[in-house]
Amino acid sequence: PLKVNKILCIGAGYVGGPTCAVIALKCPHITVTIVDLNQARIDAWNSADFALPIYEPGLEDVVRQCRGRNLFFSTDVDKGIREADLIFVSVNTPTKKSGVGAGFAADLNYVELATRQIAAVATSSKIVVEKSTVPCRTAESMRTILEANSKPNCRFDILSNPEFLAEGTAISDLFSPDRVLIGSLQTPEGKAACASLAGVYANWVPENRILTVGLWSSELSKLAANAMLAQRISSVNALSAICEATGANIDEVAHAVGYDSRVGPKFLKASVGFGGSCFQKDILNLVYLSESLHLPEVAAYWRQVVEMNEYQKRRFSKRVVDTLFNTITGKRIAVLGFAFKADTGDTRESAAITLIRDFQSERAFVNIYDPQVSETQIWSDLAEASPTVPAETIKKQVKICGSALEACRDAEAVVIATEWKEFKEIDWKEVYQHMKKPAFVFDGRLLVDAAALTAIGFKVTTIGRPSL
Ligand code: NAI
Repeated sequence: PLKVNKILCIGAGYVGGPTCAVIALKCPHITVTIVDLNQARIDAWNSADFALPIYEPGLEDVVRQCRGRNLFFSTDVDKGIREADLIFVSVNTPTKKSGVGAGFAADLNYVELATRQIAAVATSSKIVVEKSTVPCRTAESMRTILEANSKPNCRFDILSNPEFLAEGTAISDLFSPDRVLIGSLQTPEGKAACASLAGVYANWVPENRILTVGLWSSELSKLAANAMLAQRISSVNALSAICEATGANIDEVAHAVGYDSRVGPKFLKASVGFGGSCFQKDILNLVYLSESLHLPEVAAYWRQVVEMNEYQKRRFSKRVVDTLFNTITGKRIAVLGFAFKADTGDTRESAAITLIRDFQSERAFVNIYDPQVSETQIWSDLAEASPTVPAETIKKQVKICGSALEACRDAEAVVIATEWKEFKEIDWKEVYQHMKKPAFVFDGRLLVDAAALTAIGFKVTTIGRPSL
C-alpha cells in the first residue's frame, strides 16, 4: 500500500479541524493541510492569538504544537489537491431545505462540488476519503464523478471513514477512539487504499480498534450509530413523561435499567431533548433512505425518535407556562445556556432555540447567558427560528447577558437549557435575592441540586422527577 506523506482535508469545520489537527500531532512525518472556502474561518485557525473558530477543550493545545510545523490552514484548495496523496472530504452535509427530499435528505451539493474540484485539479493518483456523514452509496456517485472527469494516469480510490467524535470531547475521542471505521471496495486496489489509511491511524490507535468493512456498511454504520444513540435519549425522555405523571423517578428508572449489562449505563440521561447538527439530520437521512427503498414501516420507526424529541421540547416549554400560573406574557425568563450541549460553542439544532422561540411567542421577555456562544450567533439563530418576526421585535424581547447572575436579575424563572458545569457552581443564594418571588427554576438538564435550591426558597421543576 501507498505510504501517505501528504494529507489534505477539505472543510475546516467541527470535524475536519480537530480530526486533522490530531493526525498532524500524532504523525509528525505527515504534512497535513486543512483548506476551506471560508476565509474568515481560515484566518481564525491561523490567528496569532489562537482565537480558533471552534471551542473544544484541548484543541488549542494541539494546534499550538503543530501549526506551522506539519499542520497548515489555507484557502488554496487547488494547491492542496495537487500536492496531497490522501484527501479527506469533510464538508457540511445539512438537511436539504428545498427540492426533492426537502426536510429529510442530506444536501450533497458541497460533497459533489468538492469531488468535482478534486477531479478537475488532480494530476496524480489520490486516495479520496469520505469523512462527511453521507447517505449510503454516496461513494458510488463520487467514484462516477471522479472517473468521468479524471486525467490519464490518475486513479482515485475511494474510502469511507466516518467520524464518531462527539463535540465537547472531540480531542479525547480522537486521542482514544472506541473504534476507527474504514470502508472500502473489496477489490485489491480498494483493500490497498484501506491499508494506507489504516497505516495513518496505526500511529496511535491500537490495531484491534481499526475496523475495516465494505464501503456501504461503513456509510450505513454512521447513520445507524447516530440513530441508535438518539433513540436512547428519546426512549429515556419518553419514560420521563411517564415518571412525571406517576411519581416514579427517571434517575432511578434509568439507573435500574442501565445496570443491565445488555443495556449499559451511558446515554440514559433525561433532558429537554437532544440537539446538535448530527442526530436529527442523520436520522432524517435514514428515514429518507428507508422511504426511497420502499420501507415505510422502517421509516416511521426511526422518524418517531425525532418526533419524541420535538414533543419533549414542547412539553418542557408548556410546563414552564403552566407552572408560572398559565401565563408568561410580560414576565422575564432567564435562559442559562444556548449551546446544544456543554463544552461547545455550537448552537446547531440547540433545544434552547426552540424554548426561547416558544417563550417569545408567549410574549415573555428572555435574558440569555452562555459562556461560549457569541452574541452574533444568538441573534442569527433567533432570527432564523422566527422568520416572520422582525429583528427589532426580537431585540425588544431578548437581552443577551454577560453572566448567569446578570441574566437572572429581576427574572421570575430560570431555565437551564445547557449542562454547563459553571451553572452548578452559581451562587444560587445570591441569584435568589435578585429574582422576583416566587422564584422558579426549571432544570432542563437534571443539573442542579434540586433539594438545595428548594431549601433556599426556589420552586424547582425537573424532568422526570417527582416535585419536592
Ligand atoms: P462545518 O459546517 O463545521 O464544516 C464544514 C466546512 O466545509 C465549512 O467551513 C465550509 O465552508 C467548508 N466547505 C464546504 N464546501 C467546501 C468546498 N468545496 N471546499 C472547501 N471547503 C468547503 O461541518 P462539520 O460539523 O464539521 O460537519 C462536517 C461533516 O461531518 C458533516 O457531514 C457532518 O455530518 C459530519 N460529522 C459531524 C460531526 C459533528 O459533531 N459536528 C460528528 C461526525 C460527523
